[in-house]
Amino acid sequence: MCGIIGYIGSRKASEVLISGLSHLEYRGYDSSGIALMHGNSVDVYKAQGKLVNLIEILKTKQDICDISHIGIGHIRWATHGLPTTVNAHPHTCNCKNLTLVHNGIIENYQELKEILQKEGCIFQSQTDTEVAAHLIAREYGKTNNLLKAMQSAVKQIKGAFAFCAIHKLEPDKIVVAKRNAPLVIGLGEGENFVASDIPAIIEYTKKAIYLSDNEVGVVEKNSIQIFDENDKLIINKVEYLPFEAVAISKMGYKHFMLKEIHEQSDVVRNVLSGKLLGINNEIKLEEFKLTPSEINKITRVQIIACGTSLHAGMVGKYIIEKFAKIPVDVEPSSEYIYRDTIADENTLVIGISQSGETADTITAIKQVKEKKSHIAIITNRADSTMARLADSLLPVNAGIEVSVAATKSYMAQLISLYLLSIFLMEQKFGPSAINDEVKTLKQELIELPSKIEALLENASNIQRVAKKYANYKDFIFIARGINYPSALEGALKLKEISYINATGYGAGELKHGPIAMLDENMPVLAILNTGIVYDKVLSNCEEAKARQAKLIGVTNYIADKDVRLFDDIITVPSGSDLISPAVNIVVLQLLAYYIAEYLGKDVDQPRNLAKSVTVE
Ligand code: G6P
Repeated sequence: MCGIIGYIGSRKASEVLISGLSHLEYRGYDSSGIALMHGNSVDVYKAQGKLVNLIEILKTKQDICDISHIGIGHIRWATHGLPTTVNAHPHTCNCKNLTLVHNGIIENYQELKEILQKEGCIFQSQTDTEVAAHLIAREYGKTNNLLKAMQSAVKQIKGAFAFCAIHKLEPDKIVVAKRNAPLVIGLGEGENFVASDIPAIIEYTKKAIYLSDNEVGVVEKNSIQIFDENDKLIINKVEYLPFEAVAISKMGYKHFMLKEIHEQSDVVRNVLSGKLLGINNEIKLEEFKLTPSEINKITRVQIIACGTSLHAGMVGKYIIEKFAKIPVDVEPSSEYIYRDTIADENTLVIGISQSGETADTITAIKQVKEKKSHIAIITNRADSTMARLADSLLPVNAGIEVSVAATKSYMAQLISLYLLSIFLMEQKFGPSAINDEVKTLKQELIELPSKIEALLENASNIQRVAKKYANYKDFIFIARGINYPSALEGALKLKEISYINATGYGAGELKHGPIAMLDENMPVLAILNTGIVYDKVLSNCEEAKARQAKLIGVTNYIADKDVRLFDDIITVPSGSDLISPAVNIVVLQLLAYYIAEYLGKDVDQPRNLAKSVTVE
């Protein structure tokens, strides 16, 4: 992963770079560094740990910061080598003329390193990036031209990269390149920017050019030149950026995660807007490009995603099979890639991704695209790599999500899947398919924002429960049916941000192994929603109680006679089983949030994680 940034213009480069990196921290935060060019000199500053450590160092370098107007920066999520200062970017070649930052993984770095070592290069770090720095410098020795050196080097590199390079002998430019890692060039007046993602530059410009794979660019103060892989000068489309700087502010909340949880009612309204036009009307989904007769030919659906998006996909399986009556497989992208998957032109493949940049999902989508399946992408980033691979792009408009733990994007994905499932059914079976169950679900979707708001207004009970259980070391979440993915997602949220060992199980599976772990030190959180599996989950709760487990019920109904089973009950607004994952998850997100907050954890940037995982 990692985030990269570059600036050339008349502002103080250090300020632009640090501000940009602060907005890229979701991509990694184990070390950071910047290189500042002034005259024909370049100064590199690096720090282990969070960005604040680099900011502290820069406070003592004000003289350089004041005079430098060109620079590159990096925030790291370690892949090759420990997260130490020496492994932090930027990296330089031996003569220190060339300075480089990199996002991605160079697969043939060992091979290249051996060649370069034989030629006399001495390596300081364990990173693959330093190999690229030496390689570009070697090519510079042959060409005396940074653009040509970069073009020649990338042809020798296998793997994924977004590069920003500066050179002391060409002090008026930044040279960039990319393959399978995102890179955007922001356009200003007498200044230009380079970044891994828009939040890093949105406060300065709303105009940008997205580099495509294997393109190399020269970014100067007043010009940008981009070359394709045949070294031909090309003109890339200038795009207008969709975000406001305010979207990346905490707006008074203590953490981005809490803000993003609170935004969910509006997110639901956004996703429904223009698509769900009343309970008797068909869903409008113009973004879905298959005709009714093509939809009728779909024999299977494959959902591919990672992490939280995978859990949304699991809910999707349940509702697509129910409404559209098409068999659905859901699989983590990383597993999908390495087996002989069966897909053809009658397969609908749905890729789900908040960022649209997750490497495993991109690879899986590219693989299945060759089999002529129709690719629908549900993503929060209509400007992402995955969006560009889509035959049908279903953007979810949740707005920028900053907290590493995904919340509002999950909600948006769920709503999008509800709409898609009903849409597929209506297209397949016609308006007569809009039966009472579908009408009820549509009505519940319309009412969902106010239910979420009611839950958020009454969060004090969740806060109380969080405080009571915050010091337990382990947790089990159980549910069945459509809420099984909710149990997985609730457990994932808790472990991600509090580091408590939390595992989700289908409640029926409890007795096949996990029950062995139950005692008074193992709280069990059960999701109990009125509906087909209610009684079954209740029996599973009895079994847990009989093993002295502490029981927390998250439920929309509990009979008086059953209250005794539970140590704590969190009540959610009433509703059908079908809509319940979108209600229950808000409780689980808040519970995880309050536990982590109570424990004093770094909620928005949990250890070892990154929001956008651009390495396989
Ligand atoms: C990372 C994030 C998760 C996210 C997953 C998939 O692991 O920390 O929150 O669910 O990637 O990301 P995507 O952007 O594809 O939804």
